Amino acid sequence: MKKIIIAIDGYSSCGKSTLAKQLAAKLNYVFVDSGAMYRAIALYFLRNQIDINNELQVSDALKNISLQFEYNGKTGKSDILLNGENVEKEIREMSISNKVSEVAAIEAVRLFAVHQQQLMGEKKAIVMDGRDIGTTVFPNAELKIFVTASIDVRVQRRYLELQATQPNISLDEVKENLVMRDHIDSTREISPLKQAADAVVLDNTNLTREDQLQIALNWVNERTN
Ligand code: DC
Repeated sequence: MKKIIIAIDGYSSCGKSTLAKQLAAKLNYVFVDSGAMYRAIALYFLRNQIDINNELQVSDALKNISLQFEYNGKTGKSDILLNGENVEKEIREMSISNKVSEVAAIEAVRLFAVHQQQLMGEKKAIVMDGRDIGTTVFPNAELKIFVTASIDVRVQRRYLELQATQPNISLDEVKENLVMRDHIDSTREISPLKQAADAVVLDNTNLTREDQLQIALNWVNERTN
């Protein structure tokens, strides 16, 4: 079967990673969570007190950042390593969620991340999820999926996910963060979140995980046969 690039974009917490992970497992493709890269960069900036308005500080900091993915058999996805340290858990914390969109809006940060993402796609057979994958990272991807879901469903899903590790979190806090990130992500100057003209839309508000996988697999089949 022909190997393709699958680009999955959409708003925060609409199930992009879940779908990407399902597809990668089914097709034996590599799954890359591009958001983890921006989160790891935000973590480095926070830890090292980088002033994001200082271009020199930002470019110097990027020179000291090395990002890698390492497969985790327990979760079935890859953990991100920041300069060799597994930071998968830390990057999901609220302190990072509150900072990451600002960091991801910086041009130098995007150039740094997009370049690495494009290298990962050279051999195809990859599913990458994010905000600009179908528009900027892989404008020629054979399959582009734009995932959507109602805000209430997205908040609920994120809340349940975060409860496991951050039991003190409130629904309001989760909603505020999602709305804030969606706003920054879709209104930034450089490669904002938007649906690629040739993307297919998948609204999973009322779909089970199995339903959404089946729909996406049908699209894959149409493009690989
Ligand atoms: O997918 P996520 O929620 O973990 O992504 C974290 C942030 O990173 C998100 O608010 C926007 C940014 N991001 C981006 O700008 N471009 C991408 N391709 C992926 C994520």
